[in-house]
Amino acid sequence: MYKINYIHFIYMDKVVTIAANWKMNPSTIDDAIHLIRHIVESSKNVPINVKIIVFVPFSYIHPISKILQNTNIFIGAQDCYTEISGAYTGAVSVPMLKSLGCSYILAGHSERRQIFNDTNQIINTKVKLILKSELKCILCIGENRDEYEGGLNKEICYKQLSECLLDCNEEQLGKVIIAYEPIWAIGIRNWIKYTYSENAAEKICIQYGGSVNPENIYDVLNQPNVNGVLVGGASLDSEKFSKIIHYQ
Ligand code: PGA
Repeated sequence: MYKINYIHFIYMDKVVTIAANWKMNPSTIDDAIHLIRHIVESSKNVPINVKIIVFVPFSYIHPISKILQNTNIFIGAQDCYTEISGAYTGAVSVPMLKSLGCSYILAGHSERRQIFNDTNQIINTKVKLILKSELKCILCIGENRDEYEGGLNKEICYKQLSECLLDCNEEQLGKVIIAYEPIWAIGIRNWIKYTYSENAAEKICIQYGGSVNPENIYDVLNQPNVNGVLVGGASLDSEKFSKIIHYQ
């Protein structure tokens, strides 16, 4: 699938997708605007193969999407609800997020799974709604510590992939990025190959997420099956995030 000398040409060949996941931070809109302005400034001279997405809290999407107009940074939402409208107090739908300018929505983040009890079935409903609305989706998968220690990582990841992508065809898969926390990207690509096709496996963007920082970004992106990163904590520090997007 890859050339033997792939690693040597990695930075010339591949598009790298660097996503910032702000989670429930920062605490005020003023701080959010301050942070995004720094990110916009430092993103101006990133190489063209680096694509940047910021996943901001729902309440900041509108003001931040205005600041991101005419920049090379895409905006995304960290989650969405499983219905498109109706009596669901407190919920935010995919069409609402699309109308605010979101290009991407995260689904299945480990914090959503653990804290908000998002099951694979709920995540699958969200993934299908996102793709039906012609938005792109970052699907997060990964085993928890107990499953990891029990040697169940492969089994759990295959189950999450098959249940979260249920009824998604190969064309729709083209709008999905897979984010995985522990290092097991090769297994994901193989699963895509056997479930979809070699072509789909070659094209799929696989991000690594989990304590990515300026010190480890180069090594993370130097792994042949990793096409990007999902950055949490370090994306809230504009200097660190700037170093991450300028990893080359
Ligand atoms: P982290 O978060 O970089 O702070 O580990 C990554 C994520 O959970 O999205």
